[in-house]
Amino acid sequence: MSDRFDLAAAEALSLPDAELFRRADAACRGVFGDAVHLRGLVEASNACVRDCAYCGIRRSNGGAVRYRLDDAEILECVRKGRAAGLSSFVVQGAEDPEFGADRLARLGARLRGEFGGEVALALSFGTMRRADYAALRRAGWDRYLLRFETSDPALHLALRGAPLAGRLRALEDLRELGFEVGSGFMTGLPGTDESRLAADVALAARLGLDMAGIGPFIPHPGTPLGGAAPRSQGTALRAVAALRLLLPGANLPASTAVGSVAPDGRERALAAGANVLMPNIGPVGRKRDYELYPGKICLDEDGMKCLGCLGLRVASVGKKLDFGRGDSPSFRARALKETTA
Ligand code: SAM
Ligand code: FES
Repeated sequence: MSDRFDLAAAEALSLPDAELFRRADAACRGVFGDAVHLRGLVEASNACVRDCAYCGIRRSNGGAVRYRLDDAEILECVRKGRAAGLSSFVVQGAEDPEFGADRLARLGARLRGEFGGEVALALSFGTMRRADYAALRRAGWDRYLLRFETSDPALHLALRGAPLAGRLRALEDLRELGFEVGSGFMTGLPGTDESRLAADVALAARLGLDMAGIGPFIPHPGTPLGGAAPRSQGTALRAVAALRLLLPGANLPASTAVGSVAPDGRERALAAGANVLMPNIGPVGRKRDYELYPGKICLDEDGMKCLGCLGLRVASVGKKLDFGRGDSPSFRARALKETTA
């Protein structure tokens, strides 16, 4: 049975591209003006115990060169990012038992102790127990990113070997624990079509996300989906734009994957409703090994040097880099409601 989110997603996606992008850009500027919020991304481990069929760092990909950063290395990346003016950081990694909740909580407390409340600290380490998320929140992490990947329960199970319901339960736990919650999905997964795209956008909206990452699926040769035909980035751009119309106050990145399938992909996303960029501030020598998909951009550059390039890119679509925390308005409104209730 369709609900209002399904109807609104289908309606947005039925617009011609130019009109959809124009409306999404206007909605984005209505909330965020010309600001493009920055998140310094540190990819901490690619030693994944899971085996998602689409992912280049899946356990069974024997071609992946595995690495783990130690806490001192992660801290150093954040220090450099902070020195360059960044106020928002994302530490992301594989589902790796060496990055359990205890260790991540200690790391969060250390980062919070050193940088105080002026920085936003986000994690993305997959599904955990509610008690683990609670410990992370207490330790000072304030955001969590966990894409639902696809809203099709059967496809989700087939690709990830785990039920969609578990991922959605985790998102609910994170919200109840007071995290600013991010999720999202890949477009163009094999076996999906336009109706699935509308369902993915609708689910993201129904979840009332504070942040949503959307990127095209890019086949990796070391995975079971390596032979799938790559699709155009147009679908991802339309999904970003449609979601902007449904969730005007959410932070929507111009994802690295969008920028990896076309040289101007991120600019096009920023002109179609996206308002966030995530420069990779991890050690240059390790970036190449976090190979979720081939052709990932900015692997040889120091993340701090990327800031100059990003400044020019956002200027080309009439926007400006913003070095603040960039809390999502939807999260701020929720937090205010809770304190005044
Ligand atoms: N382990 C954490 C998790 O599961 O949420 C975070 C890391 S996960 C590798 C980061 C994201 O990369 C996934 O959520 C997925 O959407 C994206 N990704 C993985 N393989 C991809 C591919 N072949 N093409 C495009 N995006 C991909
Ligand atoms: Fe690591 Fe999917 S392969 S979470």
